[in-house]
Amino acid sequence: MPKFYIEGGVPLEGRVRISGRKNSALAVIPASLLADSPSVLENLPAIEDVRTYARILQALGVRVKLEGDRLSIDPTTLTTFRAPDNLVKRMRASYYLLGVMLAKYGYAEVALPGGCDIGQRPIDQHLKGFRALGADVVVEYGVVKARADRLVGATIYLDVASVGATINIMLAASMAEGLTVIENAAKESHIVDLANYLNAMGVRIVGAGTDVIKIHGTDRLTGCSHAVIPDEIEAATYMMAAVATRGSVKLENVVPKHLDPIAAKLREAGAEVVEDGDTLTVTCRQRPRAVNVKTLPYPGFPTDAQQPMTVVLALADGTSMLTETVWESRFKHVDELLRMGCRIRVEGRTAIIEGVERLYGAHVRATDLRAGAALVVAALAAEGTSVISGVEHIDRGYEKMETKLRGLGARIERVEDEDRVPAPEPRLRSVGR
Ligand code: UD1
Repeated sequence: MPKFYIEGGVPLEGRVRISGRKNSALAVIPASLLADSPSVLENLPAIEDVRTYARILQALGVRVKLEGDRLSIDPTTLTTFRAPDNLVKRMRASYYLLGVMLAKYGYAEVALPGGCDIGQRPIDQHLKGFRALGADVVVEYGVVKARADRLVGATIYLDVASVGATINIMLAASMAEGLTVIENAAKESHIVDLANYLNAMGVRIVGAGTDVIKIHGTDRLTGCSHAVIPDEIEAATYMMAAVATRGSVKLENVVPKHLDPIAAKLREAGAEVVEDGDTLTVTCRQRPRAVNVKTLPYPGFPTDAQQPMTVVLALADGTSMLTETVWESRFKHVDELLRMGCRIRVEGRTAIIEGVERLYGAHVRATDLRAGAALVVAALAAEGTSVISGVEHIDRGYEKMETKLRGLGARIERVEDEDRVPAPEPRLRSVGR
């Protein structure tokens, strides 16, 4: 398994191009199966989750061609309904096949999905939505089976503003008869991105980006081309790396508006964030200040940026409170950060972070995608050498992270062969809890 070998302490300087958004890509790829003709998806990130989804489609008999950031999908060759469980379990977003298959073929069978281990991840709201549209849904031996002779539009109130349930219901409702209304819908910008793609294919969706989405279904969708929006979490990670290393990084190909909640917190912490067209430059030459952060659904501070933000706060002057309200156990990165000299105490859903002046390189392990991003940010800022294992989690969601970071001056290497990894220098340090 690959590891990152990072020699920290170098302020990041320069420009980095942000890739397409992972969570948009993972919604529009299955959505393309709704059409009766090929689609071309562009600006896709070159990440493992996109490659896995392309393999899932291939396993269903769909003709796909992945070239750089473009994926051509011909849904007309689909031959089977059941995607291989081993691929489905590699990521959360495989459950969008439920909404798509149910809409198009009246039958869907998908193993319960995998994804990051960040607490309970129920799908009751997805199933409630399918049932409201007229489907019979059962979960048997870890497999969800949904069947409907026809789907009919309905009004569905979500108990929680779930991103996944909103997307899955939009997918199913795209081919339902009449009008579907999703109330208390999630408002994340990748939901707007999906709505734009579905609208271009012939569905009529209004209200995406607000908490009431109206979907007028159609019985025929036509394939088209669509470029996905930039990844705000990849952007957030580089913003935090700039602040943690006291550097200056210009992000290219971003929608600054999507980054408002992150920019606001980094400004509060003392960073300068300057917007110019589709770029954003983040500069912080001094030690950041402590700030309190609470994760919330969009337009609040995104939970996916919480883990890298922990590192900025761990280096800040003063004590910060970071509260996670979306996921119940998203602090697994903290134990690893303690090895690097962070002083963090977790009480329930809040991390109390006492800022330290410096972090120290260590051997640490990424337990999930964004925990991995946090460890990379910490290692870039730390004195000495860090070795990060569990890089396969990072590869699920970050395109060529080590290449992009090297372009910013970081000393980072991907090491496939464990024997080549030198041990970090031992250092004496006090570790707080
Ligand atoms: C998506 C993102 C993930 C992000 C999350 C919140 C993808 C592939 N993943 O995950 O990166 O962290 O949004 O922004 O896009 N819930 C229920 N019942 C349900 C569904 C969800 O109770 O049926 C709860 C969850 O336990 C969680 C909250 O709702 O507490 C938010 O979950 P949701 O928005 O559905 O997250 P995902 O779509 O899984």
